Amino acid sequence: MTATPISSKLPRVGTTIFTVMSRLANECGAINLSQGFPDFDPPARLVDLVAMHMRSGHNQYAPMAGWPALCEAIAGKVRDLHGRAVSATEEVTVTSGGTEALFCAIQAVVRPGDEVILLEPAYDSYEPAVELAGGFAVRVPLQSPSFSVDWDRVAAAITSRTRLLIVNSPHNPSGAVWSRDDIDALERILARTGAFVLSDEVYEHMVFDGRAHASVLGRDSLAARSFVVSSFGKTYHATGWKVGYCVAPAALSAEFRKVHQFVQFAVATPIQAGIADYLVECPAHHLELPAFYQDKRDHFCRLLAQTPLRFEPSAGTYFQLADFSAVSDLSDVDFAQWLTRQVGVAAIPVSVFSTHASTARVVRFCFAKNESTLEAAGRRLRRLGR
Ligand SMILES: Cc1ncc(COP(=O)(O)O)c(C=O)c1O
Repeated sequence: MTATPISSKLPRVGTTIFTVMSRLANECGAINLSQGFPDFDPPARLVDLVAMHMRSGHNQYAPMAGWPALCEAIAGKVRDLHGRAVSATEEVTVTSGGTEALFCAIQAVVRPGDEVILLEPAYDSYEPAVELAGGFAVRVPLQSPSFSVDWDRVAAAITSRTRLLIVNSPHNPSGAVWSRDDIDALERILARTGAFVLSDEVYEHMVFDGRAHASVLGRDSLAARSFVVSSFGKTYHATGWKVGYCVAPAALSAEFRKVHQFVQFAVATPIQAGIADYLVECPAHHLELPAFYQDKRDHFCRLLAQTPLRFEPSAGTYFQLADFSAVSDLSDVDFAQWLTRQVGVAAIPVSVFSTHASTARVVRFCFAKNESTLEAAGRRLRRLGR
């Protein structure tokens, strides 16, 4: 007897747009500004430290919750940045990238029938994880064109079944960055609920023009109900290493770890050990990241200004949105394909982050690239004006 044909648990999920666009970019020889990854290396000292740990025998399983020195260094960073004392042993868990942390947090708290509020456009990994847990995503659109949160709409979406709110600042894909007012509003609307928060802060060190990253870790009542996720892949230009972490109160971390230990168990030992050393040796790296990426944003925006694409400089992340309505009537999905094939620059259509129908003609570019790559993309994009 053959196995029963599989009935998909995620029937609406296909290959992610990031894989699709990167593949198309490779096929067409296009400059790939679609998927979010740097085309430059991690700091040389960090690579040396990881290699040193490999050579000195740190090659077996790390402790399930994380390499102790790394958990200590993360707790130190949380204290320095947000003034919050967290327990390195009970409240910090090192994960296989931000993605695994998001998945484990969702599986830890969402039960069949629970509602989970997402603000859309939303990063694509949230909803499938909610569905696998048996929950339902309730999508609240961000306001156009600023991508700010309409807190009245969020408040109206909360019901007795709301189990979790997933928030993301700095925001992928828009680059919008929350202010303290947003944190106030989140605190206010959750005050009379038992809902948890999953705060995706993987771009925490990419905020521009003097803005400060407003973390839920800066507020007692929010920190007490939150899983806060970050990514060393973003911070250290090493997305392929897939190392991130989750900070949550001890009771939440205990449930989180019950999932983590059977999804991943433990994260690559020499990489954790190398990052631990580097965090202590070179804290300037993450402190200097806003200026580093602001320079890249400014450079890319100067190039975009020479094209018919319209844009507001991004407030955070390493993404820049551009409105192409002066150039084409195509949908954003078709335009992104056309741009890749005909102009030789790959971008991500923004509508794929939403389920609500949108006619906005906006694509997302990643500017985490060397100057020469941005220049080459700029030269090609100037052809749009001809
Ligand atoms: C908003 C957001 N969250 C999470 C992730 C995943 O991070 P990681 O690569 O560390 O798994 C990404 C990566 O692109 C992201 O953009």
